[in-house]
Amino acid sequence: MASSILFVISVVLLGRAFGQSFEYNYADPDYDQFRPTAERDPPQVRPLVERPPQPERDQTIEGCLNKKMDIYFVLDSSTSIYVLDYRRQLQFARDVVARLDINPSSTRVGLLTFSDQVNERPIELNRYTNKGDLLLNIKEDILPYRTGITNTDLAIRYVRENRDFRQDITKVIVVITDGGSRSPGQTAREAELAREQGFYLFVIGVGQYQEPAEWQSIASDPDSNFIYNLTNFLNLEVVKATLPSRACSLPPLLVGNCRVSNLNYGSIFYVATGRVLDNAYQLSNNFVARTSGDSSNIHVSYILDNCDTPTAENAFFASPEQYCSRYSAGSNSPLSELLTRAESATITNRQDFGDNNQVVVLFLDDDSLRFNSDQIRSKLQSFEAQGVEIIVVDISRRGVGTALQNLILRRENYIRFSGSITGQDQLHRSLIERTCTALTRPIEEGTPEEV
Ligand SMILES: *[C@@H]1O[C@H](CO)[C@@H](O)[C@H](O)[C@H]1NC(C)=O
Repeated sequence: MASSILFVISVVLLGRAFGQSFEYNYADPDYDQFRPTAERDPPQVRPLVERPPQPERDQTIEGCLNKKMDIYFVLDSSTSIYVLDYRRQLQFARDVVARLDINPSSTRVGLLTFSDQVNERPIELNRYTNKGDLLLNIKEDILPYRTGITNTDLAIRYVRENRDFRQDITKVIVVITDGGSRSPGQTAREAELAREQGFYLFVIGVGQYQEPAEWQSIASDPDSNFIYNLTNFLNLEVVKATLPSRACSLPPLLVGNCRVSNLNYGSIFYVATGRVLDNAYQLSNNFVARTSGDSSNIHVSYILDNCDTPTAENAFFASPEQYCSRYSAGSNSPLSELLTRAESATITNRQDFGDNNQVVVLFLDDDSLRFNSDQIRSKLQSFEAQGVEIIVVDISRRGVGTALQNLILRRENYIRFSGSITGQDQLHRSLIERTCTALTRPIEEGTPEEV
């Protein structure tokens, strides 16, 4: 008697323990419809009914509740991946999905596998509207292991160009790969474009062939938050536990986030000498491309060393290509000369368009200050005395020095790229943000009345 009670209790306890550790209750009648047809007896067609919410099995973590996010898994199915590592990837994707709040108004999930190309039938973002259906479809007989070369670039591009992503929400790509892509340069480029489009990129390294340099070229910064090394199997637990909460805590990356209205009056003066011209072109282009709204009251001047057309000053807001010939021979004017031109442009601008937010975006490198730093300092001071806001973009190797940084009124307007501007997405965004803030600041009241 006592032993049979004990038996009943232990069966119940065991059942509870299993109920918690398995994600699926195979006794659930709804499970049946997802079993392969061959397993069913007799074969029957059941109508697809929506599964009722099952809170007791839901593993959604608190930080992910109601999180508006589109997250896309990119799984490596190439020859260099051992099939067990492929299965580990699928299991990992299920483990992460289990912790997310899956529904069309919170988190949506996409998933593809790739080798030479993106394999057939990726799970698209709008395909499954509940977690149960999604989890049941992340499995090997639906997403079979393929072989082939590792064209990670094509996979990232596929996701990047996907039109299903929602606007103004957190967008995440989780790339799982052994790292050795066929064209590392292209892979890095596609990842960079994705990051610039406002995607966060996580990289999970699997398998025996590690390529940390490639992981770094794909992942968002800082690497310590966005790269996981699954070759260290201890990390499986870490990834399961931390990736969902990390992803859910990421704010949306708003690109094109300078919205202007016809109530904003402002003018930008881009100033750069020959040596930093390429960067100045790219960064000012970036700003124009990411500004939306009614820019009819925004003006722009390109006071760039090789841009000597008069139409490039106080022109309609547009990218430098519209006004400057990129390949005209540079004259390598000293910076102070360009600043003098900028000064007269600000004066003409005020005469033509009245009071408006005037912003000088100054690009500097190691040589810019070498010969005439005093002249430049005094020019900057006189700009600020007239209410012109200065933004300094420092692209020098050593940094232009604190003397200049201290000179500008707003310290947050000093943006330093260390080395190549490529890949420094956060700095691209802060430049856009600083320029936008300066341009759209409410124009101060209190201009002295005429007596
Ligand atoms: C990944 O983990 C393995 C096993 O711990 C280790 O040997 C390897 O150095 C790690 N790789 C990187 C790039 O961190």
